[in-house]
Amino acid sequence: METTTKKPRVFSAVQPSGMPTIGNYIGALKNWVKMQEQFECIYAVADLHAITVRQEPAKLRANSMQMMALLLACGIDTEKSILFMQSHVGAHSELAWLLNCITYLGELSRMTQFKDKSQKHQTNINAGLLDYPVLMAADILLYQAEFVPVGKDQSQHLELTRNIAERFNNAYSPTFVVPEGYIPESGGRVMSLQDPTKKMSKSDDANAYIGLLDSNDEIVRKIKRAVTDSLGEIRYSEEQPGISNLLDIYAAFGDETPQEAAAQFEGKGYGELKNALAERLVESLTPIRERCGQYLKDKAYLQEVMKNGEEAASKIAYRTLAKVRRKMGFI
Ligand code: TRP
Repeated sequence: METTTKKPRVFSAVQPSGMPTIGNYIGALKNWVKMQEQFECIYAVADLHAITVRQEPAKLRANSMQMMALLLACGIDTEKSILFMQSHVGAHSELAWLLNCITYLGELSRMTQFKDKSQKHQTNINAGLLDYPVLMAADILLYQAEFVPVGKDQSQHLELTRNIAERFNNAYSPTFVVPEGYIPESGGRVMSLQDPTKKMSKSDDANAYIGLLDSNDEIVRKIKRAVTDSLGEIRYSEEQPGISNLLDIYAAFGDETPQEAAAQFEGKGYGELKNALAERLVESLTPIRERCGQYLKDKAYLQEVMKNGEEAASKIAYRTLAKVRRKMGFI
């Protein structure tokens, strides 16, 4: 048994699918960094999940490296947390197969993300797309994680993970920790800069989002162009979704609440808010972009990080997998 002084364990992963936006940062990565103080964190770059949609090998390789570098640049600290590449730990694929055999087709075909993605990729509705949540369950259950920080789009997959864990525990005796979702206190949804009623997404027009590695010029230009309204007043209210979104972003990169930020700008013009926001974003993102660039230049260091992560993750993962194999009756 674990000793009671241990910090609760957290697992999460992010797909290496191009550059994250400031929305991904505020909604996920920033909390990953913060959680390192309170939890024993295990974070992965989910490259196996990425191939459920067609990937060009050279691009997948580059994106996976970039995501590793970016996580380090954002403040994932390998002294505190385990950081690894999902495909480097074979136990993920193996446990996914074993769990497949206790997961029902009906459960998987009901997942809304599967339905959405099959609509979007009609010529490539592969078995992996359907099986995606089982691999995700394997990711989480291998590490006996108590908490999983996930956004709304993944909460259905987490619920399925809990069902699979309970089903296994009931069929073979208690084996897996049944994980819970972890909703961070702060960091709501960041909306599109061009249509503040829609979530910010990197699949949108480039003016609608700010990428974590955007240049200072791009940041300034995109904030200047951000859609506001014609009320001419700075208040944090539902009637002003554009202004409220800018205040949300402003607050997320500072240490005041959006309401406090609104009070700071009371009686001032939209231009002033936009200038202050652009300045704050440039100040916050420049060091991340620079550190990311430095890590990317140092491939040997990234390799070492991944090797260490693989070793530390494997120790935990293969212990769980051995238990599962034994309980299922493999010799
Ligand atoms: N499917 C998640 C996403 O696209 C990434 C992911 C893979 C994940 N495995 C996970 C998230 C395990 C949490 C836990 O966002």
